[in-house]
Amino acid sequence: MSDAKRNILVTSALPYANGPIHIGHLVEYIQTDIWVRFQKMWGHRCYYVCADDAHGTPIMLRAEQDGITPEQLIERTAAEHQQDFAGFAVEFDNYHSTHSPENREISELIYSRLRDAGYIVKKTISQAYDPAKEMFLPDRFIRGTCPRCKTVDQYGDSCESCGATYAPTDLIDAVSALSGAPPELRESEHLFFTLGRFEGMLKAWLADNDLQAGVVNKLQEWFDVGLQDWDISRDAPYFGFEIPDMPGKYFYVWLDAPIGYLASFRNLCEREGIDFEAFCGVNSDAEMYHFIGKDIMYFHTLFWPAMLSGAGMRTPTNVFAHGFLTVDGHKMSKSRGTFVMAKTYLDYLNPEYLRYYFAAKLGSAIEDIDLNFEDFELRVNSDLVGKVVNIASRCAGFIVKRFDGSLSEEIDRPELLREFHDAADQIAGYYEGREYGRAMREVMALADRANQYIDERRPWEMAKIAGSDDEMQRVCSMGIFLFRVLAIYLKPVLPVTMANAEVFLGCASLTWADVERTPVGQPINKFKPLMQRVERDQIEKMIESSKEQPENAAPASTEATVAEFGDEISIDDFARIDLRVALIEDAAHVDGADKLVRLSLDIGDQKRQVFAGIKQAYDPASLIGRHVVMVANLAPRKMRFGVSEGMVLGAGPGGEDIFLIEPDRGATPGMRVK
Ligand code: MSP
Ligand code: ZN
Repeated sequence: MSDAKRNILVTSALPYANGPIHIGHLVEYIQTDIWVRFQKMWGHRCYYVCADDAHGTPIMLRAEQDGITPEQLIERTAAEHQQDFAGFAVEFDNYHSTHSPENREISELIYSRLRDAGYIVKKTISQAYDPAKEMFLPDRFIRGTCPRCKTVDQYGDSCESCGATYAPTDLIDAVSALSGAPPELRESEHLFFTLGRFEGMLKAWLADNDLQAGVVNKLQEWFDVGLQDWDISRDAPYFGFEIPDMPGKYFYVWLDAPIGYLASFRNLCEREGIDFEAFCGVNSDAEMYHFIGKDIMYFHTLFWPAMLSGAGMRTPTNVFAHGFLTVDGHKMSKSRGTFVMAKTYLDYLNPEYLRYYFAAKLGSAIEDIDLNFEDFELRVNSDLVGKVVNIASRCAGFIVKRFDGSLSEEIDRPELLREFHDAADQIAGYYEGREYGRAMREVMALADRANQYIDERRPWEMAKIAGSDDEMQRVCSMGIFLFRVLAIYLKPVLPVTMANAEVFLGCASLTWADVERTPVGQPINKFKPLMQRVERDQIEKMIESSKEQPENAAPASTEATVAEFGDEISIDDFARIDLRVALIEDAAHVDGADKLVRLSLDIGDQKRQVFAGIKQAYDPASLIGRHVVMVANLAPRKMRFGVSEGMVLGAGPGGEDIFLIEPDRGATPGMRVK
């Protein structure tokens, strides 16, 4: 890596101001914080800013529910969020709010530039309207029966039972989740950002920057589908910024949310006299990075760079997307007690355990990461307590007690210390490339070497032999020299533990350049244990207590207008789906159901009954004798007409346009489909 100092602006996604921070969020803030701490230790000029995402319908409604104003709600949440982040040693240079004067100003500026350049168009759209509540309803606030599988009480945009996505107008017996009234369709004029005109610009941005493979693929898919104009306005009542030249209309929360990055930085610049333009100006050579979750890639890799470019502003250097957190192999769940709030975690466990665990699991790709509590306990205890901290605790006591706290003037094994120094560039490269898992493996391999060295030299035996004092001081000092190098390598991940190590080492705040500055002959202070072991029962208590507070566990809503693409799954996930060739032995109308056909299927060793919503597409009689593909391990579902024991696969949007998937000739019932 080059020694040149870089100017770097870093952000994490702005958490919604209507819910608490949970351990899923923390993946991102910890990932970003580690990266920023590393850059600062290296000596770069790096600023890390964030803010609360304070606007939008869910926040407005949540405040109403709590009987307070949105301003009061976002103020309360901002304080809670910052306390949670501080608890995990996530250290922002500034934490601001999207409901701020800076953000209003920059949002209006960007909007007016886009409008003046002709990138904003007006269109009249019709939308669900709640006549009782007198407001337009986001899809998430409409509930009804799924048009595909008929499960009741589903959201207006997708079904949690069968995964279908649809328009709210497709829902059967739709009602407003706010008032219970059936929504009406009403027309309203909206502003659209002409994203389609930025395809060339976005392709050039993609070509010029070193985006993750997962991002590149996603962008390619979106280009293939075609870029749609983006609705950037919402009707009153709405909590947000009113559009200057359109009274009664507000900027959609996702328009001003990413602008919140710039607003937070502007606020910092004004407070500390930093040159905003040097980082954010169109000719700036500073780097600008956004760390985000994979669910908000569309906003950050299409809308955001396009908006900036359209407004004549600089674009991001890169967007770093990460995957989602699962716990013990499942989605975080309130009933399992794995939907753990940051605050709850802090009541039971040391935050640096989680920082280390996430670091050990994080790489640069957009992959989900799993928190497995057994693995968590094992890794923290064996790596951090058993390996790293152990080096110091094995050596420090002797130095303090026998040598008045003075380290040896000599280096017992220069070649071993050199080996430790030589790892610096590789570990730095791993941090820079967000390959923290690799960095941690490298550090733990070095920790093993240090412990091996101490095991071989056995300083505790020297204590008993007269005349071995010098050697003992040399060996224990060598242990401390090695520990100090590891403290530097781990400091981005374990800032609090290593700040305590600095106290015992009697040194100033360690930087990357300190790796080679071995403190020969220097004094050290009394050693206090740096980290306790993870106690299993603390984990259990934390999970128990997470089960007790479901009312706090409301996840922040995303209110996205674009379809969220499904989570990526691993090959193992795919393998869990048992797909089989099935022979349709019988097919019949179902009395009282206008979309369902009852299928009797033969899958080799078993017979199954499946209710399929294919009546508009197929005459039941024509189906008998055909081979299809079914999901054989889907949990059976009780329906009004009987139990459905699986699902047959078909393509197409539904209604008359369903095309059953048929295996090639020769396939027989029960064959596994892979
Ligand atoms: N407010 C928007 C972001 C606006 S950025 C201009 C938002 N907020 S959020 O609170 O829902 O999420 C904040 C960040 O946390 C997002 O990057 C999101 O991907 C991430 N995560 C939320 N839940 C997560 C997991 N379970 N696992 C990993 N990251 C998760 O989106
Ligand atoms: Zn459904």
